[in-house]
Amino acid sequence: MIFKRTMSVGTLRAFLLLTICHSARRCLASAPELHQPPTSIAVVGAGIGGTAAAFYLRQEFGPTVKIDVFEPGDVGGRLATARMANQEYETGGVVIHPLNLHMKHFVDKLGISTRQDVPSKKAVFNGSELTFEESDWFIVNFLRMLWRYGLNYLFMQMWVESVMDKFMRIYQYQQYGYSFTSVERLLHAMGGDDFLSLMNHSLEETMRAEGFTQVFLNDVVSPFTRQTYGQSVRINGLAGALSLAWADSGLWAVDGGNKRVCSGLLYHSKSELIPARVTNVSFKVRPSKTGLSTGFYEVTYVGDTGAGHSTYDVVVIATPLHQGKSDISFSGLSSPVVSQFPGIYHQVFSTLVHGVLNTSYLGVTRPASEFTVSEVLTADSKDNIMYSLMSVDPVHAPAGYNRPPASHSKVWKVFSPRALDQEDLRRLFLSWDSVSQTPWLAYPTYRPPQRQTPPFILHNRLYYLSAVEWAASSMEMSAISARNAALLAHHRWHEQTGRIDREDLHTRLRGEL
Ligand SMILES: Cc1cc2nc3c(=O)[nH]c(=O)nc-3n(C[C@H](O)[C@H](O)[C@H](O)COP(=O)(O)OP(=O)(O)OC[C@H]3O[C@@H](n4cnc5c(N)ncnc54)[C@H](O)[C@@H]3O)c2cc1C
Ligand SMILES: *[C@@H]1O[C@H](CO)[C@@H](O)[C@H](O)[C@H]1NC(C)=O
Ligand SMILES: *[C@@H]1O[C@H](CO)[C@@H](O)[C@H](O)[C@H]1NC(C)=O
Ligand SMILES: *[C@@H]1O[C@H](CO)[C@@H](O)[C@H](O)[C@H]1NC(C)=O
Ligand SMILES: *[C@@H]1O[C@H](CO)[C@@H](O)[C@H](O)[C@H]1NC(C)=O
Repeated sequence: MIFKRTMSVGTLRAFLLLTICHSARRCLASAPELHQPPTSIAVVGAGIGGTAAAFYLRQEFGPTVKIDVFEPGDVGGRLATARMANQEYETGGVVIHPLNLHMKHFVDKLGISTRQDVPSKKAVFNGSELTFEESDWFIVNFLRMLWRYGLNYLFMQMWVESVMDKFMRIYQYQQYGYSFTSVERLLHAMGGDDFLSLMNHSLEETMRAEGFTQVFLNDVVSPFTRQTYGQSVRINGLAGALSLAWADSGLWAVDGGNKRVCSGLLYHSKSELIPARVTNVSFKVRPSKTGLSTGFYEVTYVGDTGAGHSTYDVVVIATPLHQGKSDISFSGLSSPVVSQFPGIYHQVFSTLVHGVLNTSYLGVTRPASEFTVSEVLTADSKDNIMYSLMSVDPVHAPAGYNRPPASHSKVWKVFSPRALDQEDLRRLFLSWDSVSQTPWLAYPTYRPPQRQTPPFILHNRLYYLSAVEWAASSMEMSAISARNAALLAHHRWHEQTGRIDREDLHTRLRGEL
């Protein structure tokens, strides 16, 4: 153990005290059965969060524990594809950032190939015309931005980078086995009070305080938050910074569809998939031989083949407990667990259309064959019926695949706040032959200040992974939360409180790099 010289006497004393209490508690631990690994663990939900949890739980608890993963729908959850013109396309979560290390680790471990995002040209549509269009030339884009917004664009990249730097610390903490009991403590460990306050202030407030202009926020920042979260610059600062990170280069996706990671993790973790919806989680106590009572969870579920129930030592909920999302009731817990937390999920329609775009709708006057923009972001204007419009590539590009020009029939994806009707389609497309619409309760509606973030621990050994989405929602956030839940479950099972909610990790671990 390395003590930082900067550690104050007070902290040192607190630390020693903690260590002593900790080892004393260990010696006094009266239930020896608690030091055996658990017999069985239930994971509720097989999206990236639940399947990553199964993967990390196996890693933490070893080969003997039985892990059951409940999922009534398709494995993948919000990672899903739809078929169109003989190819599969992503309808939910699409791109992964080059610094999303857990996602990277999964594909490496599972031997799944990735596909690099085909370079795309962006434009911004204000409801009647394109107010910005990227050129093929980096220097032209740079000068245009400089001309219009001064150094705002450059400073934005620096600001996002500084947020990412702090964000990246979580990987080292997790590598050393540290875990956190709440979203707030996790964020605080990453970057202290300032970082935590990102969640309590809007992106707009945060960036204005950093000196960015309102015009820049409206013209440049807002199109990104709309594309990423279907919301304005009033989302929280952290979710906002992550939206802006999607402007980076090097974004990638999984060859064959992102949901392949979920089925891969399930397989790799040797857990059993139970195709059923969990309806009720109930805590029960039964006396044991030694006279000590032990508690367990009874999980009730309904599947195609009827209803059933099983008992588990540990349960991880990997689906949002919010209106319209899971409908699980909890009983037998000392403190009542809310089956629905406050706040709502934002509805987004993801519509795939195989057809020919009406470029005049975008106010483009040159021939469609010369229109090479593939990502149309939108400004916050009431005339905009969409959040974004993108030319999309199949999840597995056939040999010799080239993105067709706008004058050809090809697959476009529209993100919109409401379902597109025939009238909308007629305005947006000159012709089309197939349409596939997926409604999503996509991510939280972010309205900072965040009054109450759901906890990671709902009860003794009942964990809630999706709480992390109230900081920001993405595949990587779910994976980070999954690893945190597995570490937390492990440390609490073995009563190793030393690696839970430690303060000053950044300074303490710096010596170990
Ligand atoms: C349109 C869209 C675009 C997105 N784009 C991106 C992107 O580009 N990059 C990115 O990183 N993220 C993106 N996201 C966010 C990302 O998809 C999610 O954050 C992530 O997939 C959430 O994973 P999860 O496992 O936590 O939750 P989910 O995927 O929602 O998994 C929860 C699972 O639990 C199951 N379930 C629900 N109730 C029960 C029950 N009672 N019993 C058993 N099972 C139950 C559900 O069927 C579901 O499969 C996007 C999301 C959407 C909707
Ligand atoms: C879009 O921008 C143009 C040019 O700046 C402007 O004339 C037009 O009114 C704007 N449209 C909307 C809907 O804001
Ligand atoms: C959940 O299960 C417990 C015990 O099995 C039962 O007492 C309780 O009524 C159930 N709750 C609901 C809402 O089904
Ligand atoms: C295309 O868009 C233009 C401009 O919005 C509109 O006038 C026209 O009706 C649309 N549809 C077709 C088929 O041109
Ligand atoms: C965020 O703001 C709310 C309401 O103003 C407050 O209750 C909460 O403690 C704040 N949280 C943080 C982390 O500052």
